[in-house]
Amino acid sequence: MSRSERKWDHIRFALQKRENNSSVFDEIKFIHQSLPNISVNDVRLDHSIGELSLSSPIFINAMTGGGGEKTYQINKELAIAAKNTGLAMAVGSQMSALKDKGERYTYEVVRKENPKGIIVANLGSEATADHAKRAIDMIAANALQIHLNVIQELTMPEGDRNFTNALKRIENLVNAVDVPVIVKEVGFGMAKETVETLSSVGVTAVDVGGSGGTNFAEIENKRRERTLSFFNEWGIPTPISIIEAVCESENIFVIGSGGFLTGLDIAKGIALGANGIGMAGFFLRILVEKGLEALEKEIETLHNELVFIMTSLGAKTISDLQNAPLIISGETFHWLNQRGIDTKRYSQRRIK
Ligand code: FNR
Repeated sequence: MSRSERKWDHIRFALQKRENNSSVFDEIKFIHQSLPNISVNDVRLDHSIGELSLSSPIFINAMTGGGGEKTYQINKELAIAAKNTGLAMAVGSQMSALKDKGERYTYEVVRKENPKGIIVANLGSEATADHAKRAIDMIAANALQIHLNVIQELTMPEGDRNFTNALKRIENLVNAVDVPVIVKEVGFGMAKETVETLSSVGVTAVDVGGSGGTNFAEIENKRRERTLSFFNEWGIPTPISIIEAVCESENIFVIGSGGFLTGLDIAKGIALGANGIGMAGFFLRILVEKGLEALEKEIETLHNELVFIMTSLGAKTISDLQNAPLIISGETFHWLNQRGIDTKRYSQRRIK
């Protein structure tokens, strides 16, 4: 199967996922504030992640490109939505365009449609510093994501089987490029030890890409004859992974992603410590099933929901929201307890 056919398979199978009413965020609850003492008009959603100044904490996470006309069209429409709603946007892995110049246009369209936007390049951890520079140049990227996807590769029939030296390559690449590097997972989460290791080689931002949303083990299992079903349940749920990452290092920016669907999910992700929230599968499904206008409307709704939630908590800024008190219960609490992470830092704080 060609790389471009595989890209289309990923989109096709990701579209089959149906949202349900339960969320990985159910075990996180805000503490109600009866006297928030602010107005809706006081709330601001702009925020910085290091040198990236964002007008919204939400961004469109890496999905596609490199699969010819269909992926060109998706990237084009995602880029228009990003421009019209002020969201940053990452493209899908650009290795295909580094190997085949004929695929470059499927990524370049993102910069063409959104000349002034924040756009993020994307490659896997097999990338060298030279690959990284070329991927950044291709779309005049403001940042670079490097994805770690061991479980996806192992489940993929034609996937990689050798994962040695990834950390060394990441270190070289961080030192060679002049934009921020965000190391991300793709739906299996990151443990605090991983974040600590990445931080030790100079990585300053991670996207935890936790479990609970798009599931690449399920997607790749649909492409296998004999399934590796044990990987379907693998991974660290997104809220836990955000907390693991945040508690590990104050010097690292943490982006939450994996399973975000609503303004409440986003507010919870930020309150757990995330500096930004990436959304992929949910946006893709709206775009493909309902069109560009519906996607832009959904993003607007998410912004409005977030503003209302922040108002109810008395949070004027994203930094305030990161200090909103909340309660962590159930399995999430149990996990954190086992990992030696004290949840009182969340339940006993207040917005100053
Ligand atoms: C992805 N994702 C992804 N990530 C990445 O770093 N490079 C890539 O090329 C892709 N490709 C891709 C294709 C499709 C169709 C989807 C839906 C997703 C993973 C994505 O960025 C994100 O980490 C996960 O999808 C989890 O977030 P959601 O989908 O639960 O919001």
